[in-house]
Amino acid sequence: MNIVTIFDDLQLARNKLVNPLGLVPTMGALHAGHLSLIRRAREECQSTAVSIFVNPTQFAPLEDLKAYPRDVDRDLGLLEKEQVDLVWIPDAEELYPAHFQTWVEVDQLTKVLEGGFRPGHFRGVTTIVSKLFNAFQPQKAYFGQKDAQQTIVIQRMVKDLNYALEIVVCRTIREPDGLAISSRNAHLDPEQRKAASVLFQALSAAERAFNQGRHDAEQLRQIMREILEMETQAEVQYVSVANPTTLEELDGNADRALLSTAVLFGKTRLIDNVMVKNDKR
Ligand code: PAJ
Repeated sequence: MNIVTIFDDLQLARNKLVNPLGLVPTMGALHAGHLSLIRRAREECQSTAVSIFVNPTQFAPLEDLKAYPRDVDRDLGLLEKEQVDLVWIPDAEELYPAHFQTWVEVDQLTKVLEGGFRPGHFRGVTTIVSKLFNAFQPQKAYFGQKDAQQTIVIQRMVKDLNYALEIVVCRTIREPDGLAISSRNAHLDPEQRKAASVLFQALSAAERAFNQGRHDAEQLRQIMREILEMETQAEVQYVSVANPTTLEELDGNADRALLSTAVLFGKTRLIDNVMVKNDKR
């Protein structure tokens, strides 16, 4: 496994790799969710690369950039076991040098849902992901359904900017009680951790209702809200039933929908989602 920091070294190492190359962008603190992406890349590609970079531009001033967990040695041990070919751990100074002023911004899709609560977040994500695509020139890049809006925004960027690569979206890996695995889960105290499975319960109840033929968007939102509001520790930020392409909130009967929610437990903010589709049509 080749581990590089400097951009020139990355380019040299990348040029030695056989195509197709699969890239898995991460912010480190690797867990089973990240590893599932890496395994999928290994299955589908000749070479696999991972980036580890806690990207400062996607955190708002009051967000948890400083508190974000970092353990590069542990991460590298895991990546070695997964037989990753190339790991890039760039320096922020090299990626964002003095006078940096070029941004990649996706317009409408980033104004809603996560974008409504985290202004500027997606501008940071699309800028860093586009820099990673330029640096690695991968044929495929792997992202988790866990961050559904992120995958939709990145897919839009890839189309709009003519990146010649395929985005592969991988299913959400969950704890036994349904809680989506996330590095943020470690910030939950034991009571909050127990309560946190309510996101999955709310989404699952709405998914079941949809699969039983209840397709009215507002009814589905109501099902989720009722379950979330029964949990006294949960402070709901949004409950959404949206068009999976435009992310606009749906009215009336939905044929395909992204059900999603963001919930605060104390200071810890959790998100989760499920995609539903009417197979009968
Ligand atoms: P990070 O939060 O480290 O996540 C890296 C990738 O792992 C993302 O594509 C995310 O959706 C995926 N992932 C996280 N938890 C998952 C789970 N439980 N199941 C499946 N996949 C999961 O997302 C980012 O980093 C950053 O925004 C990044 C894309 C690296 C840009 O900085």
